[in-house]
Amino acid sequence: MQLTEAQLNQYDRDGYLFFPSLFTPDEAAYLKGEAEKIYQEDREEVWRESNGVARTAFAAHTYNEGFRRLGAHPRMIEPVSQLLDGDLYMHQFKVNAKAAFDGEVWQWHQDYGTWKRDDEMPEPRAMNIAVFLDDVTAANGPLLFIPGSHKVGVVEAGHDLETTSYPLWTLDRAKVTELAERGGCVAPTGPAGSMLMFSSLLVHASPPNISPFGRIIVYLSLCHVDNHIRAFNRKEWIAHRDFTPIKPLSDDCLSDLAASRAA
Ligand code: SIN
Ligand code: MN
Repeated sequence: MQLTEAQLNQYDRDGYLFFPSLFTPDEAAYLKGEAEKIYQEDREEVWRESNGVARTAFAAHTYNEGFRRLGAHPRMIEPVSQLLDGDLYMHQFKVNAKAAFDGEVWQWHQDYGTWKRDDEMPEPRAMNIAVFLDDVTAANGPLLFIPGSHKVGVVEAGHDLETTSYPLWTLDRAKVTELAERGGCVAPTGPAGSMLMFSSLLVHASPPNISPFGRIIVYLSLCHVDNHIRAFNRKEWIAHRDFTPIKPLSDDCLSDLAASRAA
């Protein structure tokens, strides 16, 4: 899958692209089932909200076949490789639940802000992918983006160790207001199987989920192999140290697996 000239221009302007229903309902449902099994496991890679429900499962591509295949899926690897101009490795892999009623906030941040400060990633030559495993609606804690905010470079941030179980370099309200007055604030929503591609500099957040509907999104953070992290301050399963270029699998790699498990 290659991006068109119009998509490249849109990405340059807004800092993100949205691909509704890029993955089929069967592919998304299969991965959702795998995510739910992982959340039941008692393993250090699964972090929980303050009341114990799952918040995020790290590095699922290293211990689950479905997520391993998603991590090398051509519908994602090819366009990101086009945008970053070369081979990619997986810097981070998170399966984020936003549990019905209990899913907590993700504060305003830029992912590259954390990767630079904590992992010494040299440049923002890295990209985030979000694959929806549930329908994402206005009600169940969608991602919020400030379009165009990827143009301002790395913004000053404070290290928030208290608001949630996940330490994050977060932006202050004055900066978020200034950026949103210029670029607006959007919440891309769509059916399970939709994919978002967004710059590692794009300012984003998500509100708590007070609705009765859970919302799982997989985040794959792909980095150009030459731009690999230089500092190993965080656990290997949070900030990966395997810089081997990802070889894309075939387009049916996930649907095959989903069909064989269903048979
Ligand atoms: C993130 O920004 O890394 C996660 C946001 C979310 O799952 O809502
Ligand atoms: Mn983020």
